Amino acid sequence: MGAIIESMTAREVLDSRGNPTIEVEVTAKGRVAGFGRAAAPSGASRGKHEVVAFPEGGVGASVRAVKKSVAAKLLGVAVDNQEKVDSLLHEVDGTSNFSKIGGNAAVAVSMAVAKAAASARGIPLFKYLGGERVTRLPYPLGNVLGGGAHAGKMAPDIQEFIAIPVGAKKFVDAVLANTQVHKRVKALIEARDKTFTGGKGDEGAWAPNLDNLAALKVVYKACGDISDEVGFEVRLALDVAASSLCDDKKRAYIYEREGKSRDAGEQIDFVVGLVEKYKLFYVEDPLEEEDFDGFAELTRKIGKRCLVCGDDLFVTNTARIKKGIKAGAANAVLIKPNQIGTLTDAFQAVQLAKKHGCVPVMSHRSGETPDETIAHLAVGWGCPLIKTGVVGGERIAKLNELIRIEEELGKKAKMGELPWK
Ligand code: PGA
Ligand code: ZN
Repeated sequence: MGAIIESMTAREVLDSRGNPTIEVEVTAKGRVAGFGRAAAPSGASRGKHEVVAFPEGGVGASVRAVKKSVAAKLLGVAVDNQEKVDSLLHEVDGTSNFSKIGGNAAVAVSMAVAKAAASARGIPLFKYLGGERVTRLPYPLGNVLGGGAHAGKMAPDIQEFIAIPVGAKKFVDAVLANTQVHKRVKALIEARDKTFTGGKGDEGAWAPNLDNLAALKVVYKACGDISDEVGFEVRLALDVAASSLCDDKKRAYIYEREGKSRDAGEQIDFVVGLVEKYKLFYVEDPLEEEDFDGFAELTRKIGKRCLVCGDDLFVTNTARIKKGIKAGAANAVLIKPNQIGTLTDAFQAVQLAKKHGCVPVMSHRSGETPDETIAHLAVGWGCPLIKTGVVGGERIAKLNELIRIEEELGKKAKMGELPWK
């Protein structure tokens, strides 16, 4: 007999923006006792089709639901039967979008159960999820300069300017390269703007008074400089988060900081131009979250040399990913477990992406806690990229965990497989 879920509790804790979120603890009873604790993150530029983060009544209502109805349903269930646990979460909630208990309650329970199961087996979560054959570490996407919904008014319109150390042979080298790019970006901003106060956005990326093109130049130069210093290639990437720029009524993308407006065709041309000029390795949400056709046109144009990733477009939802695959809308899929609410659902999204040759990209949210679960999900599920920031306690919690995992894998450790390297 394997271990069963023995107890479950929940509480309100803080996220990195100082907002309340939910943390769940699960114990398992078996030959060996198990324990798991997990907290849910929260987004600022959320996709319209994500599950509901918290129900009416907020975090408190979610905490009460976990302690009562969820616990009542899950106590006694085999802790390692994740599919059953997750389907019971759907059953207790009873809605299609977790609007009763909250997707954040669901994901915190789902992750805490997986951690308790791993702990009851005495193995790390990544091995519990991926088995003994798992050996690959993800390349870290490091947000080094940002604007949009994560920063103040004078910062760029584009949400994230990101470094990817695609040439790194070890995860720890990759992470250190990103920190060097982050530092170099600061120095380059200071050289341009004597009034820069060192302000950062929600994910620890610098939030300077620069427009998009100036920001691109700064980060491109920083990536080039650090590539030369570390001796491997560090490329540039963007998360445009275009839904936040899109004015539905005007059917246009409004770049307030630049004082420009671009219709869908102009937006595609703009992004194609950036991919060429700055050799972008990856571009996320270049178009708004309903524009599958626009995504497809862009992927046709640049998809052989750049990853086109859907975040708000797909919201880790297999139905939307299927639609995207059919349309040829992207060649990468962002995976944010709390967009969909359970590990089983998120894993299905990863599998679906892989089956169709799309790269699954594990991701944090802009509001985070020191919860390190996504580090294990990226390794256990074989995601070759992880987006989890560069600095700040809630970001380095994941990075440091990946450094530990790399050490634990020892000689077997390899970096993930990326196209066009
Ligand atoms: P979030 O978005 O603020 O909703 O977490 C981050 C992202 O767009 O990747
Ligand atoms: Zn995004």
